[in-house]
Amino acid sequence: MSLPDGFLDELRTRLSIAQVVGRKVTWDTRKSNIGKGDYWSPCPFHQEKTASFHVDDRKGFYYCFGCHAKGDALTFVRETENVGFMEAVEILAREAGMPVPKRDPVAQKKADRRTVLADIMEQALQFYRMQLKTGQAAAARDYLDGRGMPMAIQERFEIGYASDTRAALFQYLTGKGISPADLDEAGLCVKPGDGGTPFDRFRGRIIFPIRDARGRCIAFGGRAMDPNARAKYLNSPETPLFDKGRSLYNHGPAREAAGKTQSLIVAEGYMDVIALAQAGFDHAVAPLGTAITEPQLQLMWRMCPEPVIALDGDTAGIRAARRLIDLALPLLEAGKSLRFVVLPEGQDPDDLLKAAGPAAMQALLDKAQPMVTLLWEREIEGKVFDSPERRAALDASLRTALAAIQDPSLRTHYTAAIKELRAELFAPKNRADTPWQPSFGKGGKGKGKFGYRPPQTATAGTKTSLLAQKDSPFEPSRLRESMILAAAIRNPDAALERETALEKCPIAAPDLIKIQSALLASLHLDLSGEDASGKLISAMTGRLGFDPMAHLLALPPVRIHPHLKPDTDPELIALTLSEELAKHAANKGAELELLEAERDLEGLADEGLTWRIQQASSERDMATKASVNPGAGQSEDRENLSQQLQKLIDDQVWVKKKQ
Ligand code: UTP
Ligand code: MN
Repeated sequence: MSLPDGFLDELRTRLSIAQVVGRKVTWDTRKSNIGKGDYWSPCPFHQEKTASFHVDDRKGFYYCFGCHAKGDALTFVRETENVGFMEAVEILAREAGMPVPKRDPVAQKKADRRTVLADIMEQALQFYRMQLKTGQAAAARDYLDGRGMPMAIQERFEIGYASDTRAALFQYLTGKGISPADLDEAGLCVKPGDGGTPFDRFRGRIIFPIRDARGRCIAFGGRAMDPNARAKYLNSPETPLFDKGRSLYNHGPAREAAGKTQSLIVAEGYMDVIALAQAGFDHAVAPLGTAITEPQLQLMWRMCPEPVIALDGDTAGIRAARRLIDLALPLLEAGKSLRFVVLPEGQDPDDLLKAAGPAAMQALLDKAQPMVTLLWEREIEGKVFDSPERRAALDASLRTALAAIQDPSLRTHYTAAIKELRAELFAPKNRADTPWQPSFGKGGKGKGKFGYRPPQTATAGTKTSLLAQKDSPFEPSRLRESMILAAAIRNPDAALERETALEKCPIAAPDLIKIQSALLASLHLDLSGEDASGKLISAMTGRLGFDPMAHLLALPPVRIHPHLKPDTDPELIALTLSEELAKHAANKGAELELLEAERDLEGLADEGLTWRIQQASSERDMATKASVNPGAGQSEDRENLSQQLQKLIDDQVWVKKKQ
């Protein structure tokens, strides 16, 4: 790097990051405190309506509480302009009125090389497209016709044809003055080992151009028309332009569509993406002939928080899904998860759309399974748990899988979900039946593709699990969550002040999650004047199709709560809101500790356990005590907690007796 010493520090101090970012976002003036260098806006890196993107102008950093994007002015320019480090430095140096440093000659050369290669690729693309229109390409056109690809879609995806001649492209491009060495570097031609003249990589194939997010043509995929061809698909090799593991087919258009639809479909192949687009699903991408990589996952999460992986309904597809779980688990966090659709036996999205139409595809997408379901199925498939050893082996593999989740809150929820499934599997009722058979990949028998039934009423089996108990205070508390939402709706100003806490507040029940998002989406409307709460309620009702307050008040303790009446002093409502948010957060922390303690219990009860439980209990007490205004709920919570702990210890004794 040829940057003078101290250059970057000087650049950072001269720049206002708020000014740099301000060109791309609209500040939320209500939330921002400009005097203090405190700026808030909706995040430019993910789709949202609320302002969870924070810029600290004095420190020169930004951070998004929603998608966790973070960095300084340089990062911001790199990400939003999609430029390299040195390019970002140049842009900002110009802006700060500093002399633009001389480029690192090596990096400069590389960038120039890429520009040259991209230009060659563009010319090749035009050649392939022209070829598809010639007399030689009648069979190719028939092939595309036979696959039901209309002209408009062929145009949109810039489908081309490489004729079955040895060096048509080579001759065409060298005729235009391009050197054989460049063609080789672009991956378009192959030099034979014997030193003869180079020949075209793609021959007798339908050509699928691959463009990067910025629209540069970086590679080609070529499909053989002959069903007996040695390779059905042939793709460009890795070149200075093409990094397979960091590229996605249809990236640019899908990114735009995903922004609008808030969804993203990930299919396996080029033809799937095209068929999906043809059926109106513009928000689809595919990896490029390899398994999905971590950089590709990160790219997908940039487009949409929960992409749906639509895998072929064959063993390879299911295996791919399972590998993806291992890749994704450590990366999961709030706003970064996956869902899965496994297509009917032997079909890919293209086949399904041909056979059953877009509505059938949509129906499958609507039923996409959360990742936890796939994880569970993977762990139990084909196994019978008829002995303690086998069960212990299952527990060990589940523990390993759960331990891979880095995000504590998500790990808690995954653990809870797995516990429910496990309890159900080991329930005596099931054991009396014929040996339990997972239904993964065998088509639903009224249970859905994955055989996952939502948690059912507690059985004798569930009771042995502390955290699976329905009345456990550590279960995400519907009551507390309802109180938080009700208080927020009763006092929109207080809610706005605590917007980030409300946004981050983990809510479990689907109906309450809907209310939470309607609340966050409506808080920034103009609610000034009389009856802000009433205005908020009608805005939310418009979004939800039902009255959120009436829904929340259906729970008697919320209805009769003295601080949640329409005529309560707003200060008191605000206090209640803070208090409930704090307690909720405290419970989440304790839940985690206890889960870990219980995990130990299930593995091998050791002396450390009792200490861990006490520790969790006293930390939780402290957290609750620290809350603003000790409410009536607290002593109940504590009483419940000691009951829970007693049970945990009883269970431990029980485990020991069994051993
Ligand atoms: P599939 O075999 O599922 O093909 O490979 P497909 O997408 O359904 O294609 P059609 O419908 O038969 O034309 C999925 C993806 O795997 C890569 C390609 O990217 C393909 O789109 N692939 C497949 C290869 O790279 N090489 C191959 O030989 C086969
Ligand atoms: Mn196919």
